[in-house]
Amino acid sequence: MNNSETLTRKKRKYKILVATHKLTTRSIIMNTLTSLNTDCYYVKDGDEGLEIISDVNFDLIIADSLMPHVNGIVFCETLKKNPQTHSIPVIIISNQISSPDINQGFNAGASSCIDIVNIENQLTDIVKDELEKRDLHEQQHILIVDDSRTILSALGKGLMQAGFRVMTAENGKKALELMLMKKPDLILSDIIMPEMDGFSYLSATRSIPEFADIPFIAMSTKNDRASMRRMVQAGAASYILKPIHIEQLIITIENILSTQFRIVLKDRERLSLEQKQTLISITSLVTALEARDPYTKGHSEAVSKMTSDIVTYMGTSQQAKERIAIGAMLHDIGKIGIKDKVLLKPGPLTKDEFEHIKKHPIIGINIVKNIPHMDDIIPIIQFHHERFDGKGYPAGLKKDNIPFPANIVAIADTYDSLTSKRPYRNKMSSGQALQIIYDNRGTQFNPDYVDIFFKFIFSKEKIAAI
Ligand SMILES: [Fe+2]
Repeated sequence: MNNSETLTRKKRKYKILVATHKLTTRSIIMNTLTSLNTDCYYVKDGDEGLEIISDVNFDLIIADSLMPHVNGIVFCETLKKNPQTHSIPVIIISNQISSPDINQGFNAGASSCIDIVNIENQLTDIVKDELEKRDLHEQQHILIVDDSRTILSALGKGLMQAGFRVMTAENGKKALELMLMKKPDLILSDIIMPEMDGFSYLSATRSIPEFADIPFIAMSTKNDRASMRRMVQAGAASYILKPIHIEQLIITIENILSTQFRIVLKDRERLSLEQKQTLISITSLVTALEARDPYTKGHSEAVSKMTSDIVTYMGTSQQAKERIAIGAMLHDIGKIGIKDKVLLKPGPLTKDEFEHIKKHPIIGINIVKNIPHMDDIIPIIQFHHERFDGKGYPAGLKKDNIPFPANIVAIADTYDSLTSKRPYRNKMSSGQALQIIYDNRGTQFNPDYVDIFFKFIFSKEKIAAI
């Protein structure tokens, strides 16, 4: 993932504090950062900076090294000593920056130092990098496993200062217990420990599917390369020798996590592409179905839209809503396998014809079951003709055994059919359709969902009246 993708992915606006007394520098920075999704606050020295920082949570600070009163270096040192602000990255800017200036800046805890003459070329990229790192750190839980309390405390403190979330355990057994409560994003583990050593712990994590992909860094006091090699062969992503330099550890963690993150993102992109392709095939299936019967043209889409609106009204997540909408779109797809003389019959069906049409949910499953990622869609197709009183088909499910989306699709399906013209009857008014749905509350339809449906309809009418 590139930097700009990260910034767009995060919908929130980043807050950046710029501390400089020079108006020209301030205006260059302002112009340079306009392309980023940021809110910039400006102060003229470190004193003002320390004041504002107690009221605003900043994501990044840019400080001029040569300000009057509290200069950028002192400002940075003060921030790094305060547990509330130590993890905010600081970029030091300076006129004609020299090597001693750079050293001073880094010694004060700055993440980067830039010469003011290079701001226009370098600042945007450096700011993007810092914000991306900060995002990455804030989202990551690192589990440190070591039998030495001193090491747990020193590494924990160092990683927390870098913005990571830290969990600690004194051996592999305790670590596994902890992981059941909160899955870490990365494990940093000693090898020689009581109760369960690093080898057994690594092998345990690799054997549990949920934990098998967590990056594992082995660490040891011994310069024992054979053990380290064994750990890497057993699945450790990397190893690091004690005494550990925290900066070096952070770089190793960042590299491993960003690679891991890229893999996850690629997987997500692949899945989304597959789902888009699935949707295209689904749309053509629905078009093929509706082409056979001009009276039902647009019915699947209307049911899908109404179902999607109802579940949105219920507060269902965006992702679940999208999946339910696909299920609703496909609810009658099995009618592709129903004979024309039955499907297109303009009058009431005979018993045999009705038995034939009752097969459409099962035919529907057979059509979609081989399309990838349809497991959550199938119950909607399968159970949209079940009834609350158990007299529906194909399974005769009762009450709460009917999956929730199938209940909503059943109501939306009925409402749209009744309010649309059919060869054997004119379309009903909304009021007539609502009356029929209400009359079947507790028999055909689950009363809880009928009540939600009515609230949804009335909320829409209220909005329309306004
Ligand atoms: Fe149906």
